[in-house]
Amino acid sequence: MMKLRLPLRLAPGFDHHLDMVSLEQASNLNLLLGQVLHTGVPGAIVELGCYTGSTTCIIGHTLAASGDGRPFHVFDRFDVTLGEHPAGRDVFERNLNAVGVPMPVIHQGDVFETVPASLPSRIAFAHLDLGVGGDTQLHARLMDHALRHVYERLSPGAILVLMDYYVPGLTVEGHDSNPGVRKAADLFFRDKPETVTTLFGGPCSHGYVRKAG
Ligand SMILES: C[S@@+](CC[C@H](N)C(=O)[O-])C[C@H]1O[C@@H](n2cnc3c(N)ncnc32)[C@H](O)[C@@H]1O
Repeated sequence: MMKLRLPLRLAPGFDHHLDMVSLEQASNLNLLLGQVLHTGVPGAIVELGCYTGSTTCIIGHTLAASGDGRPFHVFDRFDVTLGEHPAGRDVFERNLNAVGVPMPVIHQGDVFETVPASLPSRIAFAHLDLGVGGDTQLHARLMDHALRHVYERLSPGAILVLMDYYVPGLTVEGHDSNPGVRKAADLFFRDKPETVTTLFGGPCSHGYVRKAG
């Protein structure tokens, strides 16, 4: 294409069945977590829904590169396969080891059972990514459970990132992969001082909340 002087680049498109995170979302996670670490918001880092580790690698790498030794906890049932990705805890651990990201504390099981029991008491940064494309109402219930328990543990200034938070028109090119996310989040934050801010996530949807206080 360069020889033809055409300003075009051939690249595979984003596949919503196979790809877990867009470049724009990777950048959002990196910058938002970096801000929390830089400003010294107290608490642990948590991720609910880590699957094969794409976003865990971004979060874990940002944390390790900062030199901040605070704990990082991940939660997943590890028995779901999305698209053609082979899944499971062994795949998750292999992927992290392959890129040299330190292993987080892993809580294997259903979030309805592991949360809040295994959640750290104070949280500085949380990433919620529990969507598997199923029933919207069921997913909204799971999100509500996660939001209630994570929110009350967020330190003032902490960041909560919501994967798949989709607002038509605002989420510029994003996809509505898991409508239960916005359904649960908008209801949950209706009587809270915070509101969800939409982020640009390229082909995917993303929102975040900064805990007041
Ligand atoms: C979209 S994937 C997460 C993708 C991941 N962040 C990544 O970048 O690879 C959603 C994950 O949520 C998990 N999940 C869904 N419902 C769950 C539940 N009730 N308890 C625990 N994990 C759950 C699934 O096992 C799946 O791994």
